[in-house]
Amino acid sequence: MTKGIILSGGWGTRLRPLTCTLPKGLIPVVNKPVIERQILLLKSAGVEEIVLAVSVMSDVIKNYFNDGKKLGVKIHYTDERHPLGTAGAIKLAEKFLKDDNFFMLNGDVIINFDFNEMVKAHKKYGGIGLIASKIVDDPSRYGVLIVEEGSQKILKFLEKSEYHPPGENYGPTLINAGVYLLEPEIFKYIEPEKKLSIEVGVFPKLIKEESMFYYPISGVWKDIGNPEELLEGNILLMNDIISNFKSQNGNLIHKNLDVEGKLKIHPPVTIGENVVIRKDCEIGPNVIIGDNVYIGNNVEIKDAVIYNEAYISRDVKIEKAIISDNCLIHDGAKLIGNNDNLILLSSYVEVLEKVNLIAPSNSSITVCHHEIVKEYTIKDKI
Ligand code: GDD
Ligand code: MG
Repeated sequence: MTKGIILSGGWGTRLRPLTCTLPKGLIPVVNKPVIERQILLLKSAGVEEIVLAVSVMSDVIKNYFNDGKKLGVKIHYTDERHPLGTAGAIKLAEKFLKDDNFFMLNGDVIINFDFNEMVKAHKKYGGIGLIASKIVDDPSRYGVLIVEEGSQKILKFLEKSEYHPPGENYGPTLINAGVYLLEPEIFKYIEPEKKLSIEVGVFPKLIKEESMFYYPISGVWKDIGNPEELLEGNILLMNDIISNFKSQNGNLIHKNLDVEGKLKIHPPVTIGENVVIRKDCEIGPNVIIGDNVYIGNNVEIKDAVIYNEAYISRDVKIEKAIISDNCLIHDGAKLIGNNDNLILLSSYVEVLEKVNLIAPSNSSITVCHHEIVKEYTIKDKI
């Protein structure tokens, strides 16, 4: 029976300060932790047992998922004291995965495709593994696949810094999407208790000595490596869900939304459970609001993700921002980012009355958890 393992142990440094209080795997995408979405996709392909390869902030992840019963799957955890790299991490789960092929997922990718199709493709091609792939315009931050023309066979796997096209001219390129279907023979290539990257130390060898194939995935794909990608990934997935379910008016709004008076919604918008929105607000486009959020009178929000339990007071304006759980934004505050630079508030941040946080053209504004923002001086020197 096909099982699954999700790598959920990286530091998530490029997502700081959002990952100071929440491990990367629990970061919400359209109001569900990114690895919970992956678990549900695995489950829908018949996977019943999943290992979470945890390391950094493992207790927080264990407390959230427990034994998996709530999601209808059985969840095991590895005991990785220090990050052992992507191969070292799965080696710790060999005893759970040794009997059949298994899915391996990077726990920081947003995906929404039918895993059953991948199982069928693996059966058809054979080999020791199948690597899901996507074509992207700039492959510099991903592993690159060089493949045989006219077949699905991978000839070379080049991890990030190893791919240099002639003249360093990067164009649309086939990359490793961080989703694999692997045969347990792969464990023969990984020494126990040694730090090892599967991308650098295992795949290139396997491609030489055995055979590996690639599988182009359809639909949304985004690595939430940095905050801009996280915001973009949330919006992409929201659009994907809306188009799949042909949901009401192009939005995903919980039925218990409590609105007082006039509310202008510009789709697409997602609103979670127990949200209160007072009079004369304008929400959207591209807004995702979590559960138990309060929004006061005359608030404008667009291009933003607001986590659970946030309290946003009256006359506030939010644009190009990610606001973590339990933030408190007082009257008249303005939080405005731009295309390349966002406003990022970690958990429990308080922004006082009429404070303006306007991102300069050269950097995002980040606020660490539990800070109180009293004023902000623009340091934009350009
Ligand atoms: N348990 C554990 N231990 N997990 C780890 C470790 C570790 O030592 N190191 C990384 N991870 C987890 C991360 O949390 C993440 O979910 C996943 O492994 C991939 O690590 P990243 O640090 O996010 O790698 P990347 O995004 O730079 O590159 C990888 O993903 C790309 C696709 O998004 C590579 O697999 C690339 O080849 C690929 O293109
Ligand atoms: Mg990544």
